[in-house]
Amino acid sequence: MNLDLFSSVIKDGNVATHISDQAWHLEGFATALEIQLRDLLRSIIKQAPFRQMKTPGGQLMSVKMTNCGEVGWVSDHLGYRYQTLDPVSNLPWPAMPEEFKSLAKNAAATAGFENFKPDACLINLYPVGTRLSLHQDKDEIDFDQPIVSVSLGLPVTFVFGGLERSSPQTKIKLHHGDVVVWGGKSRLAFHGVLPLEAGEHELFSHYRVNLTFRKAI
Ligand code: SIN
Ligand code: FE2
Repeated sequence: MNLDLFSSVIKDGNVATHISDQAWHLEGFATALEIQLRDLLRSIIKQAPFRQMKTPGGQLMSVKMTNCGEVGWVSDHLGYRYQTLDPVSNLPWPAMPEEFKSLAKNAAATAGFENFKPDACLINLYPVGTRLSLHQDKDEIDFDQPIVSVSLGLPVTFVFGGLERSSPQTKIKLHHGDVVVWGGKSRLAFHGVLPLEAGEHELFSHYRVNLTFRKAI
């Protein structure tokens, strides 16, 4: 089925809403897995704790990050890149759990991207007040593969633009369990999140957690 023909469709009981060319918001797609995801995240962060990375310009990023998968996204004075070792421990990143892989693969397929095989999962922890400014995901080798982004915990406003920083933007409220998938013509779309508003979530307390699945290498 070509989902781009519809603005909103029901697929496997989930509402899929069209954001832009080949970009979809899958409401509640991950909700049924919430306990497993929370428990798997707990064991990942025991091995590779959240840390604040520095931008290449030396600024401390407010969002805390870690990774699982064959490679992890890192930032420091040398630049943005993917690497196989966690720079804090010098050990490989924790393996990507099968449950993460199948969630990402299923979400990608629902949005029209078959055979997505993520090798990197960036895990962002947003304390209240933190944001992620407008950027493109372009540190990956293969732009034919989509981005799959899973939201957990407190809700946030996601900003999705176009291929230019100045392109018109769509603002979408992302709730716990929502998944956004973008690829193809939207693969290099600018996106970001507005500052996290205070709240309390029964599984993630005062935080929002975002899992970004990518085929990086
Ligand atoms: C990202 O763009 O890396 C994360 C976006 C989000 O937190 O929703
Ligand atoms: Fe991003």
